[in-house]
Amino acid sequence: MAQRYRKRRRRFRRSPLSDLLTILAVLILLAGLVFILYRMLSPTPGDPEADPSPSASQSQEPSPSPSPSMTVEELPWNLKLVNSDHPLSSDFTITTSTLSNGLTFDSRAYGALMDMLDACRAAGLEPLVCSAYRSVEKQTELFEQKVDSLMEQGLSYDEAYAAAATEVAIPGTSEHSLGLAADICALSYQILDESQEDTPEQQWLMEHCWEYGFILRYPPEKQSVTGIIYEPWHYRYVGVEDALKIRDSGLCLEEYLEQEYGIT
Ligand code: DAL
Ligand code: ZN
Repeated sequence: MAQRYRKRRRRFRRSPLSDLLTILAVLILLAGLVFILYRMLSPTPGDPEADPSPSASQSQEPSPSPSPSMTVEELPWNLKLVNSDHPLSSDFTITTSTLSNGLTFDSRAYGALMDMLDACRAAGLEPLVCSAYRSVEKQTELFEQKVDSLMEQGLSYDEAYAAAATEVAIPGTSEHSLGLAADICALSYQILDESQEDTPEQQWLMEHCWEYGFILRYPPEKQSVTGIIYEPWHYRYVGVEDALKIRDSGLCLEEYLEQEYGIT
């Protein structure tokens, strides 16, 4: 009996190898716990609250979204840029609708022009569209008249050409030939000069044109960018969304298209 008991004890006695394995398992478990605790307490790389080092803070700065680069040809029709750097192509055509006074305007923006004029009239005012779509031939006629008139005042041909181009766009570079520009004046004051801005009609249009998708295309402080003098009568259709953005940005069309689409 006593011998059998000793045999059984011998069978259940732990060997040195199993002791070693147990110690190893405990050590691995402890190392794992230490590792988990370390990860929980360590700052996350790039987290400025946990790691206020300059490099971590800088990595959280919002980066400006890159402007997608486009060509003028790729712009949507309502944002098409026409100026001395971007003339109309010789095969440019549009479909126009006719105003009650016989002038024509791009059919896609005609409704917006009518809505704006109706609203202006509803405010008790009398706006008059004095120029809208102009063929390149008509623009050439107006441009040459301007050059001639300036030469009669004593300017050389080159001087007259350069001065005329700040008021009447060089043929092929006018938004009027694009069909999206309208010169609107007050019925009671039909002279296209800076005093136009003092008429109640122009005051109303300058405040509300954006709501109908039009922008005051040649603002006073942007002549160095547009190349055109201040024209408080020339309204250009771009659509409501972009008109409001342009109004809020304080940019002219050239600047806006460069900022939004990388057009230069
Ligand atoms: N007066 C504007 C610039 C035009 O001729 O298109
Ligand atoms: Zn005009």
